[in-house]
Amino acid sequence: MKKNNIRKICCIGAGYVGGPTMAVFASHCPYIEIKVVDINKERIDAWNASDFNNLPIFEPGLDNLISNQRNVNLFFTNELEKSISEADMIFISVNTPTKTKGVGAGQAIDLKWVESSARQIAKYSKSHTIVVEKSTLPVKTAETIKKILISSHDFENKENKTFSVLSNPEFLSEGNAINDLQNPDRVLIGGDDDNAIESLSSIYLNWVPKDKILKTNIWSSELSKLTANAFLAQRISSVNSISSLCEITGADIAQVTKAVGMDSRIGNKFLSTGPGFGGSCFQKDILNLVYLCNFYKLEEVANYWQSVLEINNWQKSRISRIIVNYLFGNVSGKKIAILGFAFKANTNDTRQSPSISICKDLIEEGAHLSIYDPKVENYKIEEDLADQEIDNNEFGTWEICPSIKESAIKSDAIVILTEWKEFYDINWQDLFRSMRKPSWIFDTRKCINYQNAKKAGFNIWEIGKSPLINK
Ligand code: NAD
Ligand code: UGA
Repeated sequence: MKKNNIRKICCIGAGYVGGPTMAVFASHCPYIEIKVVDINKERIDAWNASDFNNLPIFEPGLDNLISNQRNVNLFFTNELEKSISEADMIFISVNTPTKTKGVGAGQAIDLKWVESSARQIAKYSKSHTIVVEKSTLPVKTAETIKKILISSHDFENKENKTFSVLSNPEFLSEGNAINDLQNPDRVLIGGDDDNAIESLSSIYLNWVPKDKILKTNIWSSELSKLTANAFLAQRISSVNSISSLCEITGADIAQVTKAVGMDSRIGNKFLSTGPGFGGSCFQKDILNLVYLCNFYKLEEVANYWQSVLEINNWQKSRISRIIVNYLFGNVSGKKIAILGFAFKANTNDTRQSPSISICKDLIEEGAHLSIYDPKVENYKIEEDLADQEIDNNEFGTWEICPSIKESAIKSDAIVILTEWKEFYDINWQDLFRSMRKPSWIFDTRKCINYQNAKKAGFNIWEIGKSPLINK
């Protein structure tokens, strides 16, 4: 085990990144005491729940880690001041959403939470502290953080307070977070203080091979994170754009991506077509990139990345239009079963989920939706569709169902929006019997057993495949 001078870590932000990341740190570094702090009391209570099914986030393997480490060397607490004041190293892992008002609204990152974290560190820290940016941040944010930390000289005990700021962006993807954290493709550490870099690097060396720990300057590190997300999102928009061409020309997107992905320069990962990318980060990080490019007067570059988002929005609305068109151009008063509300499988996260905009489109068209998702809590669906609370007869309605079976009863169509494993094994014959005829399946994730569904009697629309091929 690689021991170093770090004995106490504080992580500000107990979210999708802070919680799992610190659980993995704790499991590999028993000699370090880790406190994960949050201003949200309910969230901390949920992290401390005795029933591991009630943890605030669902992530395969997380419950196991939490049950091993919690209250051993991993603590979830609201005690911000104490946790900061004791820590040798502090991770800032707070939310960084797109600004909704003021300068840069709709594009720039809202740094409110990062700034308040830096101010709290400046105020409560007691001695030399390594501050690590874990949140995804615009290039040059480290400068802002440094300025705020230096202003701590206004506070008492100023002669003992010194800071090093590092960038250590997180590349985990939800649903696979624990595996990503245990076996990262790389760990990126940006900074200019060699001692601080060594301290952080020696923590990772407990489980990450040395050649996977990449050290860069701080600006490259911040920009690499934005670029990685932009490249991944661009790949999905590329494949989604071609899926629409396949549907018209008679090509099959599965065959096209197989052929394209066998080119070792392109590779076969991240080529699944779908209803558009969701998640809390792709959209906000590209918007941020666009904002930065415009700020530095790189209009063409900004437009290039903006188009990735435009295709994504187009893909979502084109799916809503297809559903309406196939159901005789009218879904008013029809019942439509929605299978999957999370933005991808194996997470209970619905942030920017394509299901939200597709459901809203269909409700606006007058449909009655019966929504089923195996992991998303009801209150989240209610929050996400809240502005569609229907008091107007022209709009449709929606309800949440406890099972696939119940959502399908008397419905005209089933729309698959998330690739949950259980949707691969649906007994289509069973569902068909309970539905109104003609009964449709709209598969936006290419996850159904096509032959079985066809045999059961369904009409099927499958993304990226011409309806003629399906005949
Ligand atoms: P999240 O919203 O789930 O969690 C952030 C937490 O920070 C919240 O619980 C919030 O209450 C807390 N917080 C905000 N300000 C605080 C303060 N001053 N003091 C204490 N707590 C505070 O967000 P997330 O999904 O964990 O993302 C965090 C960052 O990591 C973002 O910058 C995001 O872009 C980046 N990121 C996210 C993912 C992902 O998969 N979600 C992956 C890689 C990177
Ligand atoms: C993504 C990145 O993959 C992570 O590396 C990054 O750390 C994270 O964003 C972040 O910064 O937040 P995440 O959003 O959790 O992770 O999930 P992804 O697996 O990337 O999926 C994003 C969206 O793209 C989902 O809606 C998913 O269904 C969609 N997707 C993904 C496709 O439509 N096709 C694919 O081939 C892959």
